[in-house]
Order: sequence, then C-alpha cells, then structure tokens
Amino acid sequence: MDLLTGVIQNLEEPVRVLKPGLEIVLANRAAANMQGLDPSALVGSRCDGALPGRCEKCDYCLVEASFEDGSGRRAQMTGIDANGDRWVTEIQTKPILDKRGQATHVIETFRDKSREKRLERQLLQSSKLVSIGELATGIAHEIRNPLSGVRLGLDALKPCVSDSEEGLEILQDITRDVVRLDRVVTDLLNFTKPKPHRPEWFRVEPLFGQVYRLVRKGAHAQAIHIDMSVDPADLEIWADRNQIHQVLINVLLNSVQAMDGGGGIRLSAGFSENINWSADRPDKRGYRIVIKDTGKGIPEEEMHRLFDPFFTTKPNGTGVGLTTSLSIVRKHNGELRINSKPGEGTTAQILLPEGPGEAER
Ligand SMILES: Nc1ncnc2c1ncn2[C@@H]1O[C@H](COP(=O)(O)OP(=O)(O)O)[C@@H](O)[C@H]1O
Ligand SMILES: [Mg+2]
Repeated sequence: MDLLTGVIQNLEEPVRVLKPGLEIVLANRAAANMQGLDPSALVGSRCDGALPGRCEKCDYCLVEASFEDGSGRRAQMTGIDANGDRWVTEIQTKPILDKRGQATHVIETFRDKSREKRLERQLLQSSKLVSIGELATGIAHEIRNPLSGVRLGLDALKPCVSDSEEGLEILQDITRDVVRLDRVVTDLLNFTKPKPHRPEWFRVEPLFGQVYRLVRKGAHAQAIHIDMSVDPADLEIWADRNQIHQVLINVLLNSVQAMDGGGGIRLSAGFSENINWSADRPDKRGYRIVIKDTGKGIPEEEMHRLFDPFFTTKPNGTGVGLTTSLSIVRKHNGELRINSKPGEGTTAQILLPEGPGEAER
C-alpha cells in the first residue's frame, strides 16, 4: 500500500473516487462500512446499479453533475434509520480535471451531520421553550380571571334568553368556546407549574398495559391495531411513573389522531448499551421507548414547531401535549425525539438514562 492509499484508507470520513459511468475506482474503509460492505466489494462496482436496494441512483446525481461541468457540488441527504432517528449526511464532490479541464474522476466525500443538526435543533427548542413558555404563562394568567367572569355572566344570562331558541343557541356556542379556552389555559398552567419529581424503579410492562387500556377503545373504533413489546419482559426503569404515563398517553393519542383510515401503532421498550445521545455524555447505557405509527406523518416544514406551546394542526387540539412531554423527559435527563415521513408515519423515541443520576443517589 503506498502512502497515499494508506492515508485515504485511514481517513475517518468515507471517501469514494469514481470514473465516468459512475464506476467506483477507489473506496476507503469508512465508505465500505457506511454501506455495510467490504472495501474490495465496492471497487469496480457501479454506484447506482451494482448494489440493488442499497444504493440506487439518486434523483439528482452530484457525481454526474460534476463530470458534466467540471465543478464541485455539495448537498445534504436525510433519511430515517432503524431506530427512527433522522440522519443527515453532507455529500461533497470534487472533480479531478485533466489539462483540457475535463473531469477524469470525481472524489466523493460524506460527512455525518446528524448529531450536529440534532444539537442545533435542541438548542433552538430550549430557548424557544423558555421564552414562549414564559410569555404564554403570563398571558394564561391574564386570561383566566376574566374568563371565569365571562362564564358566570353566561350562566346569569341564560334565564334572560330562555324564550328565544336562537338566543339559547348563541349562548351555548359561546359557552362551548369559553370552556375550550378554559381548558387550553388550564393545560398550559398545569404544564408550567412545577410538579414534584418522584422517580422510582418500576416495571414497564404493566405501565404499557395501563396506557393501552386507556387508548384501546378509541383506537379500535378507528380500526387501529396496537402491538406492544417489552424486552426483556420484566424490564424495569428508573423514572417518575405518573409522568412517563402522561408522556406515553400524549404521544399515543397523537398517533391515534394521526390515523383516519386505520393503521398500526407499535409500542416498544428496551435497554440499550449504547444510546446515541445528542450531546457528549459519559453514560452510554439507557432505555429506549419507541412509539411508531403508520399515520399521515408530519410535513417537514412543521417539524421544528412540534414542541412549541400551542402548536397544533387539529381543530380541537391544544398544542401542549408534546411541549409537556418534552419538559417531562428533559426533567428525567432524557431526550424526546420525533421523526416522521409524510404519508408513511411517525416515530417518537423516549430515551431515558439507566438509573438514578448523581443528585438522586
Ligand atoms: N404521531 C403524529 N402524527 C402526525 N402528527 C403529529 C403526531 N404527533 C404530533 N403531531 C403533530 O404535532 C402537533 C402538536 O402535537 P401536540 O403537542 O400533542 O398537540 P395537539 O395534539 O393538541 O395538537 C399536532 O397537532 C400534530 O400536527
Ligand atoms: Mg396531542
């Protein structure tokens, strides 16, 4: 192995060199690992055709574009991995030009930006949560008092319009809206009110059973099948049981509400030796609870608003379910991730640390 090949082989970033016709003439170990292959299997194969199912020609091929005009390209690709985590890879191409300026080869490098992107999103979420949360609580308090005045007033008005059917109807409509407003305000104040955090060891399976019984009726009415798995069956986790119960209900209800024409929900829990936390942290072990649905999914442009208080796309939604869930999971020093493919479904992951943190021991 000459020095140059040695250097390329040992680069941490995947590198491939292609010649016209998309044939791979050189690929380092990282590139082979990325595709789950042996480096020798890559060389000589075509990027688009040789590996059916693994690497199809992209809608827009950067390599072809670089061969065509002799200039470099950069693009991001995203997808969802087996855990339901979104991956983001930056692909960059650089042509090697001959004397006439024609590209003889194209070097293709890949950079995993998943973690960076996730951290960016989390930071943004945190700051939004604090500022919107504070603002919203202030407004909620302001609304609450006059609202109870309005309710009392409506009750008092009832006898005055009792002989007018139209008057009564209008009064009913107003009352319904006021009740809804009151619910939103109460939900919001509940969410910002500090709650006691009482973690304990408890078994996950009975908790799953409990939440299942709560959503079962609604789910069956909509032809939604729910299946559950806990591995190992007697898995215990360290958390505040009531709060995790609430998170599961919030997330499950969202799944049920995302499926009009029936579908499936998979609820699973397990232990992992190697949780891919977004931030660098010393503890790698933890629990992963996954709720995967085959609902309508979430459009890309809505993804960054999911955890905003009051963000809802439902006529009767309050938009505090995910906000509350996120703050609960964060209090557990865990992470709540939601990823989705519009038209295919949504996966929510609740990641929790292995056991009591320093402060709790
Ligand atoms: N599993 C899911 N499938 C599709 N959309 C979802 C899902 N979970 C959450 N959403 C979207 O996120 C929004 C916010 O959810 P949430 O905070 O629970 O509030 P709400 O359920 O009251 O609308 C929902 O209105 C919906 O648009
Ligand atoms: Mg909800």
